Amino acid sequence: MRRLKNVVNVDEVRLAARRYLPGFLYDFIEGGVDGEEGLARNESAFSQHSLMPRYLIDVSRRNTATKLFGRSYAMPFGISPTGPAALFRPDADLLLARAAADANVPFILSGAAGAALEDIHAVAPGRNWFQLYTARERQISHDQIRRAADVGMDVLVVTVDTPVTPKRERHLRNRISVPFEITPGIVLRMTRELLMHPTWFARFFASGGMPAMANWTAYMSAGASAAESATFFFNQAFVPGDVGTPSWRDLETYRNLWKGTLVVKGFLHPDDAVRAADIGCDGLIVSNHGGKALDRAPASLDALPAIKKAVGGRMTLMLDSGVRRGSDVVIALCLGADFVFAGRPTLYGVAIGGQAGAKKVLDIIAHEIDLIMATIGCDSTDRLDEHFLTEETKR
Ligand code: FNR
Repeated sequence: MRRLKNVVNVDEVRLAARRYLPGFLYDFIEGGVDGEEGLARNESAFSQHSLMPRYLIDVSRRNTATKLFGRSYAMPFGISPTGPAALFRPDADLLLARAAADANVPFILSGAAGAALEDIHAVAPGRNWFQLYTARERQISHDQIRRAADVGMDVLVVTVDTPVTPKRERHLRNRISVPFEITPGIVLRMTRELLMHPTWFARFFASGGMPAMANWTAYMSAGASAAESATFFFNQAFVPGDVGTPSWRDLETYRNLWKGTLVVKGFLHPDDAVRAADIGCDGLIVSNHGGKALDRAPASLDALPAIKKAVGGRMTLMLDSGVRRGSDVVIALCLGADFVFAGRPTLYGVAIGGQAGAKKVLDIIAHEIDLIMATIGCDSTDRLDEHFLTEETKR
């Protein structure tokens, strides 16, 4: 595909996705919350740091392979959960899982995905993780944990940073709501978008439109439509501030129910990290949901050092939000992350090129990590530490 062949970095994949997708869907990927200051903060956190290269070192044999929870991955980078992926490309969850398997990196299936965790697990047993959104009816969450355990999912990721539905202003402007409301204005806009993005529309409708939320339909009456399942999910997992809001007690219950590796996604405060470690959680993905939860939250990279200091020896520390280049991954590792994830980059890739598009993004990041490591004089990811950062940007 021409679009894919010509791109040389993640930002060019983003631009190709912007051309390919209807505007309201591109906004769905790209948008943050409120005034969207967090998006810029996430990316600029990485550019505040500079790498200090060391030369005349033999880097002819380099190894980007990285161990995480006892498994070896090709590089210290994986795919974060992104619920509505199938909106951007039919079967996107499966395609992302296959690209991740091909590249030997972890893939986290969102609890809000269109694909069932049972189907994703089959793609690459041992390399897929399941992300849980706490349901208002807790027995649903407990059953989803049982299902993840039954199929042998590797890691359970509990997302904690969206206790209420955030104010995503691009959604409000685009009138994206659940259940989706068809007004004359929307029909007019859709017609215009259809004419401008015929390939996306053709693919979407040929595939039967938005799939039902496969991990939730088991708890609804048989034959529920995709729209009904979306409403069901939102009422279960995103109703503002009621009993649906997950608590520490829920995390303790999840720890008891789930015997495997348990990761919490979304903590930014070191005290929360300490409490999670005390409960027996194995790891954290330090994250601000890619700027989609709290606009004035710190960048995850800025929150990492204090968390590292608080629980560094006790928990595996991962990070996402704003990672766009191999150098970002290297900088995060130098600052103490054990592993790095990203959400949007592979979404752009899968949107424009399916599995090959997502794989292209993974290849770009892998290549960049390898080149950066060689250029700073480091032959192995486990040697990356603050010695590779300039004095003024060390924390
Ligand atoms: C997300 N994210 C997310 N997180 C989560 O725990 N469950 C989910 O279902 C989703 N859904 C989702 C959809 C879309 C379109 C995006 C862009 C993001 C957040 C995601 O896992 C991750 O934290 C961010 O994407 C990281 O930021 P970057 O890498 O996109 O900058």
